Amino acid sequence: MKIDNLLKQLTTKEKIGQLLQLAPFYFDIDLKAEVAGRIRSLNIDREGIFMSGSVLGISNASEMIKVQQKYLDINKHKIPLMFMADIIHGYETIFPVPIALASSFNPLIAFQTARISAIEASTAGIHVTFSPMADLSRDPRWGRVVESFGEDPYLAGVFSAQMVKGYQNEGIEKIGNLAACVKHFAAYGASEAGRDYNTVDVSKTALYNMYLKSYKTAIDAGAKMMMTAFNVLDGVPATINKYLLRTVLRDQWKSDAVTISDYDSLKQVLDHGCAENEKDAAYRAIQAGLDIEMASVCYVNYLEELIDEGIVDIKKLDEAVLRVLQLKKDLGLFEDSFKGASIDREKELVRSKEHLKISKKVALESAVLLKNEQTLPLNKKQKIALIGPYAKSKSTNGPWSWHGKIEHNLSLEEVFSNNNINLTFVSDAENIDQLSQQNITQIEASEVVVLALGEDARLSGEAHSRSDIKLPNHQDTLVKLARSLNKEVVVILFNGRPLDLSNIMDSNAILETWFLGSRATEAIFDLIYGHANPSGKLPMSFPRTVGQIPVYYNHLNTGRPLTDNNQNYEYLSRFLDVENTPLFSFGHGLSYASFKYSDLEISQIEFDIDTTLRLSINVTNESQIPGHEVVQLYIRDHVAKISRPVKELKKFKKIWLEGKQTQTVVFELDIHDLSYFDSNGNETYDSGKFTIMVGSNSQETLNIDIWLKGVKHDYQK
Ligand code: NOJ
Repeated sequence: MKIDNLLKQLTTKEKIGQLLQLAPFYFDIDLKAEVAGRIRSLNIDREGIFMSGSVLGISNASEMIKVQQKYLDINKHKIPLMFMADIIHGYETIFPVPIALASSFNPLIAFQTARISAIEASTAGIHVTFSPMADLSRDPRWGRVVESFGEDPYLAGVFSAQMVKGYQNEGIEKIGNLAACVKHFAAYGASEAGRDYNTVDVSKTALYNMYLKSYKTAIDAGAKMMMTAFNVLDGVPATINKYLLRTVLRDQWKSDAVTISDYDSLKQVLDHGCAENEKDAAYRAIQAGLDIEMASVCYVNYLEELIDEGIVDIKKLDEAVLRVLQLKKDLGLFEDSFKGASIDREKELVRSKEHLKISKKVALESAVLLKNEQTLPLNKKQKIALIGPYAKSKSTNGPWSWHGKIEHNLSLEEVFSNNNINLTFVSDAENIDQLSQQNITQIEASEVVVLALGEDARLSGEAHSRSDIKLPNHQDTLVKLARSLNKEVVVILFNGRPLDLSNIMDSNAILETWFLGSRATEAIFDLIYGHANPSGKLPMSFPRTVGQIPVYYNHLNTGRPLTDNNQNYEYLSRFLDVENTPLFSFGHGLSYASFKYSDLEISQIEFDIDTTLRLSINVTNESQIPGHEVVQLYIRDHVAKISRPVKELKKFKKIWLEGKQTQTVVFELDIHDLSYFDSNGNETYDSGKFTIMVGSNSQETLNIDIWLKGVKHDYQK
């Protein structure tokens, strides 16, 4: 199929149709699809519907086949529809939510989950997934941190890239692979006060050094599509932002990824006050480089008029349509329009035993042990009281898991019972007011109180921001009760964002499990009974109080930093009523083993821009308990033209250590690991001191100073 020839056969109207994405119910009234957004009636006729280019959300193979068949019967040129959907952390086999996945610090896991998601979703005839979400997130009030890989650009980049590779694998033309659509371009995670869809206002240097990095890494990994964000950037809505869509994406990054608006976000430029009407919006979008319009019809209704009036050059339209047709071709849809959709393959592959087994393995690596006063692991002989909103709940899939069926999951109560744990009391009470005196007597009969606490899955995700990020509904009163009864208290958290845990710090152990997916509770059981050793690390800081937000490890130093030596001064960058540090920092996560770091060595102390530095460090498991450790390497650039973060993650390795084993871990660093971007997006570096820090988290590290030589500062020239 020569797409240039095909393009020539299309009328302007037909070309514009290729740029429209509609939900399946437009094609067939009986079909429902989960879409996140205001469903407006689109004022589109039957002809317009059967000229559109792609579909948003489809439930299974038979629906896809039905819609595609009907479309091809009516569409004059028989150009197949492309089916896109939000397959975020699994199709029917649900994996940990992205923030949990990032907690594994194991990029192979991201690859593997994306692979399985692609294999399963492709049986429904889905061709493109709206994943990964590469948005950097520093504000836990924002509900969508659950979909993110956290606050670090490098970690988010590594995970985004691995997801892209996992989905696209060895080529999107092959059955079982999906094209990846990175989102939301750009800086959506910087919405003010964490209120979803709110204003974003970031500097160019923050943009290039923080926010853009993870999208770029995903694009470099070959992502085929890019979705725009709902927010403004420099005052211009991302969906019509020429700087983002042309200068950054096309000119600087040399990407030919198909761009797509977010749900209705083109029409929303009117609400932003950046277009007079839909015609103006269509004009600004095509000039800016937006290809596909999702769920609004500015292009369909006005682009032809704009071309006929000579206001828009038809070349701009052709460029966009060619990119869409090329993607359809690359997906192999002209040869097989029903590609992948198969009821038989669906039965064989979806939620297979093998996939569920991997889901559990991933869950085991994604939980983070935040605190442990040697209470964990538990002993099977201990009598347990199991209380809290997640004691009997099967709702462990988390947001964006619309194909996952929670009735297949097991509750904690079921898993405890299946393992013959002596439960003196089980209750889904959320707080002390829901417990009777008799209940308290039953709790007293236990040795350990396991509290399954957290947020309902609907408290995080799109449009679900919170201003108070404590545990809801006074769940902390359960901790206080158990402690007042002199019980050991283990808290298991189910939630989609870092929470303010200050009022449950009395508990003896806290295991952060986020939403771990289809096999969550079985994995949690193995972790708390020591059949597996926790190894997750936090991809995002947990604040001491909401008033500290945003609190993130890779902050700038300020001109009046608080240090160990100046605590008595008054005029410092600090709060009067709370420490500067978070409650749990980025990279924190405990193990049942204890790891010691020693012998940090570097190949040279002075280096130039062509040097590859080799670093080595010994990591010893001082315990008898085998386990994973995440060895983290941070840098600090002390002198630069712009202020640089006090710490930046540059490398990490997840290693396995048997009891008493020592391993030498080696990292290589080159100038690209030590450079930064100026406000035009150019890579740059300055001579002077750098500190390399290696350790088990972002706060406890062994350090070494090195010097970059041979680059002159301006004052020396
Ligand atoms: C809106 C969300 O912002 C986006 O992430 C999602 O992919 C689209 N809706 C499509 O469902």
